[in-house]
Amino acid sequence: MPELAYLNGKILPIEEATVPIEDRGYQFGDAVYEFIASYSGRMFRVNEHLARLQRSMDALEFPKVSLKEIEAGLSELFNQAGFDRAGIYIQISRGVAPRNHPFPADSKAQVVMTIRGLNEIPDEILEKGATVITLKDFRWGRCDIKTVQLLPNAMAKQKALDAGAYDCIFVTDRGIVREGTSSNAFIISGGVAVTHPLTPNILPGVTRSIIIDICARKDIAVEERFYSIDELYAADEVFLTGTTTEVMPIVRVDSYQIADGRVGQYAKLLYRALRQEAESG
Ligand SMILES: Cc1ncc(COP(=O)(O)O)c(C=O)c1O
Repeated sequence: MPELAYLNGKILPIEEATVPIEDRGYQFGDAVYEFIASYSGRMFRVNEHLARLQRSMDALEFPKVSLKEIEAGLSELFNQAGFDRAGIYIQISRGVAPRNHPFPADSKAQVVMTIRGLNEIPDEILEKGATVITLKDFRWGRCDIKTVQLLPNAMAKQKALDAGAYDCIFVTDRGIVREGTSSNAFIISGGVAVTHPLTPNILPGVTRSIIIDICARKDIAVEERFYSIDELYAADEVFLTGTTTEVMPIVRVDSYQIADGRVGQYAKLLYRALRQEAESG
């Protein structure tokens, strides 16, 4: 299958797609993005991802971009590439302009997309669970906007890998649990699913919202509230949710084993329900 790029309306091989060096995404991190997964030849929850993309662009007062055009480009790219299981990355920058901090008066947003095959999460992780470390959240105050300013996330992920863990969960200096480096975090405590409320400090995850809906359908109570690192360590279950993370069971956080150290029933049930929903479109 060809790995393709979409560049302002044209589709071409990824290695041939380039952007000008004065793109504001490159110089200022002045760009927003989305990542969409496909299952069985269909992109999953496109409308939700595009709505969040629009929200990110509005929050940063980007030049107007036609969502219809993006949607058409996305479909064309997906159809031409022909993957069943793919990851589609969309990045929109404020545009190209001589380097200067203020927003340029008349820049044109640059729209870039790529498509590549997406690997499944290894069975071993789903069966045995993964481990995470926690780190003080040192990101900016608008993590609800999905910008490409991901250096703290990349640093935290690398720190986790260096420590032999799968990922890192950000925690405030007062011990409030926020989210993973590219996922939202949930705990199960006494049969209740608990996750951080939607505030400027976390991303409103598409998967987070799907999981909350699935919980409602399965009569699992959900509390969107602040919870502490002590509650995280003492939880019956911990899992991360995200487009590529799906529902990832976590069996160890820092030096603490979660419950009996095995993947819990809620994580298994929610993973299966998510996959079912994704595969049936
Ligand atoms: C910081 C952060 N939180 C949460 C998520 C999960 O969001 P979604 O479920 O929409 O993929 C992501 C996904 O990239 C993320 O980067």
